[in-house]
Amino acid sequence: MLEKINQTADYIRSKVTDLPKTAIILGTGLGALVDHIEDKQYIPYTEIPNFPVSTVEGHSGNLIFGRLGNKRIMAMQGRFHFYEGYDMKQVTFPVRVMKALGVKTLFVSNAAGGMNPEFMIGDIMIITDHINLFPEHPLRGKNYNELGTRFPDMSEAYSKRLIKHAMEIAEEKGIRVMHGVYVGTQGPTFETPAEYKYFHIIGGDAVGMSTVPEVIVARHGGMEVFGVSVITDLGVEGIVEEVSHEEVQKAAAKAQPKMMEIMTELVNRFEE
Ligand code: HPA
Repeated sequence: MLEKINQTADYIRSKVTDLPKTAIILGTGLGALVDHIEDKQYIPYTEIPNFPVSTVEGHSGNLIFGRLGNKRIMAMQGRFHFYEGYDMKQVTFPVRVMKALGVKTLFVSNAAGGMNPEFMIGDIMIITDHINLFPEHPLRGKNYNELGTRFPDMSEAYSKRLIKHAMEIAEEKGIRVMHGVYVGTQGPTFETPAEYKYFHIIGGDAVGMSTVPEVIVARHGGMEVFGVSVITDLGVEGIVEEVSHEEVQKAAAKAQPKMMEIMTELVNRFEE
């Protein structure tokens, strides 16, 4: 594994001169952030040694290097989901490579179903914590001390200072933001009404099929993390309605400008 990470990092170093300290995983609802990245350099996943290839509709696969505001950043356009059949080491491999390249801060976004009765479709939820319900742990197996400790602390998986910054930005801009706990599940089914209820009872505010593995590996590697969900459907008791991938995409597209505004400003402002 270490060899693979280094091989991939070496390849990227051979292509990119000015490496960033900040990375963004562009999930559903943040794809258009790409248009705001300046001096872009694309590296398709297909050209990167050891990289899995993205398969889902609406997720193209590129690493993008460039500038967002005053920061050098790298962005993942398209991520790898467990439900696609990748194992957890593959899902989180790009985060290992980011760390090897010197990335210190990871920004992640996703689409999620809202379970908190105060949430509305199109809301943005700043992730304050998560519950990992994936059936496989990304750190299962041999621990490489070079990558991180055997038993990582998760008491502040999501950076309090970045959450605070983001809330301030939302308030300044008059954008309604919610905050809450993200439940990560394997998918690919959306939840039954009973499952939404259960996830809410155990402390979840939103549920989705990504993010948790990447965040765990980022924290294992000592990176600071900020995450945000766009609420694309509601799993609230009494109002659980039919959900489809298309509806999720549509709701995410609608919320995209707000999400982008917060993320762009946050990346611009925070101290690396
Ligand atoms: N459940 C799981 N994943 C999701 C949902 C949901 O309701 N909405 C968007 N991604």
